[in-house]
Amino acid sequence: MSKHEEIPAAVGDRIRRSLPRHIAIIMDGNGRWAQARGLPRHRGHKAGVEAVRGVVEQCASKGVEALTLFAFSSENWRRPRTEVRLLMELFIATLGREARRLHRNNVRLRVIGDRDAFPARLRERIRDAEDLTAGNSGLTFVIAGNYGGRWDIAHAARRLAERVEAGELAARDVTPERLRPHLSSHDLPDPDLFIRTGGEQRISNFLLWQLAYAELYFTEVLWPDFDARELEHALDWFSRRQRRFGLTGQQVEAIKGA
Ligand code: FPP
Repeated sequence: MSKHEEIPAAVGDRIRRSLPRHIAIIMDGNGRWAQARGLPRHRGHKAGVEAVRGVVEQCASKGVEALTLFAFSSENWRRPRTEVRLLMELFIATLGREARRLHRNNVRLRVIGDRDAFPARLRERIRDAEDLTAGNSGLTFVIAGNYGGRWDIAHAARRLAERVEAGELAARDVTPERLRPHLSSHDLPDPDLFIRTGGEQRISNFLLWQLAYAELYFTEVLWPDFDARELEHALDWFSRRQRRFGLTGQQVEAIKGA
């Protein structure tokens, strides 16, 4: 016999929305963009910052609640030493320059990932920018830096294991609902739309848990070329997806029509 479950209100809400509440992006293709122009790779990352600015402003003005960008993965440390150094310098300079602008636009900035490995100056800039924008009520702009989805899940599992060890929780009480509050993006809705630029079709250890029900959009466009028109294409594509969350197409259409 199948167990009949009520459809949670949150699922109905997500099915009805045509604008994603949370967008997560892997910004790929900076290196190739630069190389195609005979420029060093770091010039592609620099051009990528312009695309970041455009996407943040567009999401803020549309009323998207959260935008998470994968700026540096835990695997990116394996890149040539000079590229890593230049990326760290770019993050420091960008945060220093953009923090006030984000604040003026009511954007709340947050960095997720293991920041302990970052240079002290970058950690300071992150803390300053987070403090400055903490009270803002507009778009939450999340930068994933030295982030890995497996790290995030393992970190949350460790927190729960500590509670079990302390006798606060029994092992049988370890459930997805209890693990979620320990994830780095615990207070944000899970991403509805995942975008990866640059032609590759993989998730690359990004928000592994959080992307469980995201719609996955892949484009050949290289990140520095991802402008307002490209984001509109992605949003238009998203608005035409039928999100099911385990339901049948008929149930989904009934919810939309109600
Ligand atoms: C991947 O392209 C891109 C990165 C590893 C870095 C992305 C960082 C930025 C755009 C800067 C953002 C800054 C802030 C503060 C949010 P790639 O180098 O792998 O490109 P390729 O596949 O063409 O080599």
